[in-house]
Amino acid sequence: MKRRPRVSICVGTGGVGKTTVASALALNAAKEGSRALVLTIDPARRLRSLLRLDEGPGEHKVPIEAKGELWAAVLDVEHTLEAAVRTYGEGRQVETVLQHPIYRMLVSSLAGMQELMAVEYLDQALRKGFETIVVDTAPSRHAFEFLDKPEFFADLVSLPLVRFVGRSYRLWAESPLGRLGRRTFDVYAKLEELVGAGVLSQILDFYSVFRSIAEGYAARARASAQLLRDPRTCGFSVVTVPAKALRDGEYFLRELSRRGYPIERLIVNRVWRTVDVEPEPLAESDREILRWYRTVSREHEELGARLKQRFGSTVKMRSLPELDSTTAGLPLVEALCGALGVPLDGQT
Ligand SMILES: Nc1ncnc2c1ncn2[C@@H]1O[C@H](COP(=O)(O)OP(=O)(O)OP(=O)(O)O)[C@@H](O)[C@H]1O
Ligand SMILES: [Mg+2]
Repeated sequence: MKRRPRVSICVGTGGVGKTTVASALALNAAKEGSRALVLTIDPARRLRSLLRLDEGPGEHKVPIEAKGELWAAVLDVEHTLEAAVRTYGEGRQVETVLQHPIYRMLVSSLAGMQELMAVEYLDQALRKGFETIVVDTAPSRHAFEFLDKPEFFADLVSLPLVRFVGRSYRLWAESPLGRLGRRTFDVYAKLEELVGAGVLSQILDFYSVFRSIAEGYAARARASAQLLRDPRTCGFSVVTVPAKALRDGEYFLRELSRRGYPIERLIVNRVWRTVDVEPEPLAESDREILRWYRTVSREHEELGARLKQRFGSTVKMRSLPELDSTTAGLPLVEALCGALGVPLDGQT
């Protein structure tokens, strides 16, 4: 029987270990026999150096010992959009679209396309038969843009007003007859006020030239939004570190539930574990360091209890250890993967 695909999405603020943890989650799935893909939609592209991938679009197989497979990919806007045009465009329309100056401009200049194309790529990866897809989102709180924007686009293109303005606005804008189209532009200006100038003109540009492709995209974005809201297919992992755990937990759990997304776990990364070292044979300066280490690791332990009290009833919690700074790349991912089963403060 074919397995239902599983999508995991890691969200969190900058530098907390999202890329590393997302890779560990995908590795874990590969070890359990899944054909797993870790996808970063973060333009900073740390995944490449983390898993030592060659440059180039598409999925790359990571050499690991596992029952399943681990693949990694970095979202490539141009490649994803071109694949969508080739799959869903009709006949001669495909080359016309790909050569079109607006298309060229869009793929090269739109920061916003990054978020719009993430769900398109997710759809493409599911069609390629990946059974587990772990998404590493962009740092900072803008992580939600990749969830909000495609839906926003889908809602927008289904408005009759946008269809009308989208079809005509470019013609008006470029023609001296534009002056006669004041009423159209009033509508346009109102929409712009509503959604922001940058986003609207990008969307309408795209829509006016590639209407059928844009409508196909909107339909897939809607389907993806449904998939991401279904706890049978998707789960969100909030990744954080001890110093930010209470604040991040509060923020991300609230924002995710407000949007109706299923929350799978809160992962506290870089937790200092207690150490068993006898202070006696140590020099005074080392004892000082040991005392400090113990103070911090005790604080982390207490934090575990507070987190459990605060969020334990709504979400599973996991704690990942701070590893020594010489561990990096795939060995770091392997080590964290091994620790993923460890519950925070005894909770499963
Ligand atoms: N548990 C850990 N122990 C030790 N080092 C870690 C651990 N987790 C992550 N790191 C290190 O912390 C740094 C940041 O990790 P990572 O790139 O995964 O974070 P990120 O949240 O994806 O960052 P960004 O927001 O910049 O994309 C890396 O150098 C990584 O090796
Ligand atoms: Mg990252």
